[in-house]
Amino acid sequence: ELGGYEHYMLKEIFEQPDALSTCLKGRLDLNNYKIILGGIQNLSRHLTTAKRFILTGCGTAWHACLVGEYLIERLARTPVEVEYASELRYRNPIIEEGTVVIAVSQSGETADTLAAIEMCKERGATVLGVVNVVGSTIARTTDAGVYLRVGPEIGVASTKAFTAQVAVLTMMAIELGRRRHLDNSRTEQLIKDLDRIPNIINDVLKYSDMIKDISKECGDRENWLFLGRGYNYPTALEGALKLKEISYIHAEGLPAAEMKHGPIALINDGMPAVFIATRCSNYDKIISNIEEVRARGGKTIIIANEGDEEIERYADYLIRIPNVDDALEPLVAAIPLQLLAYHCAVLRGLDVDKPRNLAKSVTVE
Ligand code: M6R
Repeated sequence: ELGGYEHYMLKEIFEQPDALSTCLKGRLDLNNYKIILGGIQNLSRHLTTAKRFILTGCGTAWHACLVGEYLIERLARTPVEVEYASELRYRNPIIEEGTVVIAVSQSGETADTLAAIEMCKERGATVLGVVNVVGSTIARTTDAGVYLRVGPEIGVASTKAFTAQVAVLTMMAIELGRRRHLDNSRTEQLIKDLDRIPNIINDVLKYSDMIKDISKECGDRENWLFLGRGYNYPTALEGALKLKEISYIHAEGLPAAEMKHGPIALINDGMPAVFIATRCSNYDKIISNIEEVRARGGKTIIIANEGDEEIERYADYLIRIPNVDDALEPLVAAIPLQLLAYHCAVLRGLDVDKPRNLAKSVTVE
């Protein structure tokens, strides 16, 4: 079942090019530059005219929602709110005509997400599901939805489901944008680039051994920071969560500029700080955030674009990723972070597929 891999997590990380191809298959119309999401097609008018989206989920799914917020706001210019399902269910959210809720869940069984969906439905919202497990409770409870189609995810740490959640939200955002106001050339470019993502991920996976070497050098440190901006701020949060849950290293993910509002006090000699510093993510600003860390003795692990020579002098460790449209970057930048967490945990001799205190799906409150 492990197909030669040592752990399910590693298998699922390496499965991502295929899993995402399956997720995108038949959904990208490369002749007419449209996106076809069968499960929500009946609702397309309703979605195009939606006044506001509420995106909800827990853990990794919530991070995917945060990426979705940037995507829908930028590409479709529709207001978006993201809320943890555990908070949404006990809030008194304002749901008006034209509010559409999108619930994201790999398992489709997460108790808080399900309760939030039920509450929003009672208040008259249209609720869509972005779910992996076919026929799961959330898939059945939502009004309509889009399946991830990535196959079973066994490792407790979500990997291929995360990239597929982001891919589905990206497709939704592009299609909403196309129907609302995106110009044709931008739509075309985004769809073409999205189609190339599985191959690009395949290229990034080749860095696994190099990332293992970085883990050997930094994996003994107990406190890490993960920093990104824009589309890659949620990616930074996801990188930190991956490291925490399987290696038990304390990690904090932040939008890079927030560092100076407090967390910078944590930085001491040799503390690893992982930056996603691609050309798209407010490059100049993030460079100054990197300098702030280096000035305090932090060790920088930088994810940067291929061909970016300027970045070399700022990096103690450098991981290169291909250039892609910034809207698609989380799909690529997440991969080295998954590998980093994996290798750190394995080097610590931990059970990466079944980390302590965690269950694959959280069906109790
Ligand atoms: O099955 P769900 O997507 O609803 O699960 C949500 C979270 O419990 C889940 O993403 C969790 O955070 C993962 N262990 C993260 O890797």
